[in-house]
Amino acid sequence: MNATPSTQGAPAPKQSKSSYRIAVIEGDGTGPEVVREGIKALNAAARKHKFKLDFINYDLGGERYKKSGELLPDSVLGELRKVDSIFLGAIGHPDVKPGILEKGLLLRMRFEMDQYINLRPVKLFPNVETPLANKKPEDIEFVVIRENTEGLYTGAGGFLRRGTPHEVAVQESINTRMGVERCLRYAFEFTRRRNNKKKMLTLCGKTNVLTYAFDLWERAFHEVATEYTDVKMDYAHVDATCMWMVKNPEYFDVIVTDNMFGDIITDLGAMIQGGMGIAAGGNINPEGVSMFEPIGGSAPKYTGRNIINPLAAICAGAMLLTEIGQAEAGASIEGAVYKALASGKIKSLAAGKMGLSTTEVGDLVASLI
Ligand code: IPM
Ligand code: MN
Repeated sequence: MNATPSTQGAPAPKQSKSSYRIAVIEGDGTGPEVVREGIKALNAAARKHKFKLDFINYDLGGERYKKSGELLPDSVLGELRKVDSIFLGAIGHPDVKPGILEKGLLLRMRFEMDQYINLRPVKLFPNVETPLANKKPEDIEFVVIRENTEGLYTGAGGFLRRGTPHEVAVQESINTRMGVERCLRYAFEFTRRRNNKKKMLTLCGKTNVLTYAFDLWERAFHEVATEYTDVKMDYAHVDATCMWMVKNPEYFDVIVTDNMFGDIITDLGAMIQGGMGIAAGGNINPEGVSMFEPIGGSAPKYTGRNIINPLAAICAGAMLLTEIGQAEAGASIEGAVYKALASGKIKSLAAGKMGLSTTEVGDLVASLI
């Protein structure tokens, strides 16, 4: 039985404090419902470990945008820069054209606050069904570190002769030495401190085709590696990474990759760990304000029905605590999720099939903290 939190040992743990100010963005769809359960767990952990959390709500999201046209006002951004951390529910509204909220809110926060790491643990908890035959919790326990401020996500590019038969669309991947190097450095530190596995860092790229971008990544990888001789270096093309995540996920310890590949392989990761109901992630600025979220989206069709799975939000809360310097409290939450699942009381991780309501799952976890 291994209840070690996969997030434990993130680089440069912060000094703990006695109280923290946490901005809460419930967001759209089922965001408010899962955030409520996340906060339940956060408060239970804070009580147990004797520190205080003050939550400050921001009503950002699709509803506010529809009413006022506002996405992320500068004044709000200014306030978000001053909190200890941000807890986010979900962004995405059925009446808002795809791209607007994503770019104007989620990506803007990642970029403006320079949250250059997207940390996404892939961990199979006990009693959780994985689509991979014969794979057990000990086989699926790795972490993806996704670069979160560059690559194809910067919006660089443009159209030429748009809407004509001679149209040209260019979408450029931006990779800076600074951006790549700080991401790699974080990944090496993380791998070094994550002491429950093989201490292997896999660079996931596509050096055989993306001969500029991943040439830079590969050179930087080799250079930074000279400072981390205790970490085993490994490389896999992104297509092979997908194959192995399905065939032999036990191979991986920590994977570091660019923004786009990280986006894609972490959805695959979420599936093999039991689905979006359990997949959490952190948008981390190790020197600034980070933001934690369940990675599953707003699931509009389940809104208000008290049937959505809050475990991903709860796990995001655990990651948040670890990042702000309360790793033991984070481990308490993750341990409680482990126990809740091990108890067999949660029948499935899928919305509406848990055998318990959203609130009941949240109560169960909180009671185990
Ligand atoms: C994610 C999401 C976002 C991304 C979207 C909503 C912009 O898919 O967090 O993985 O692509 O990063
Ligand atoms: Mn994604």
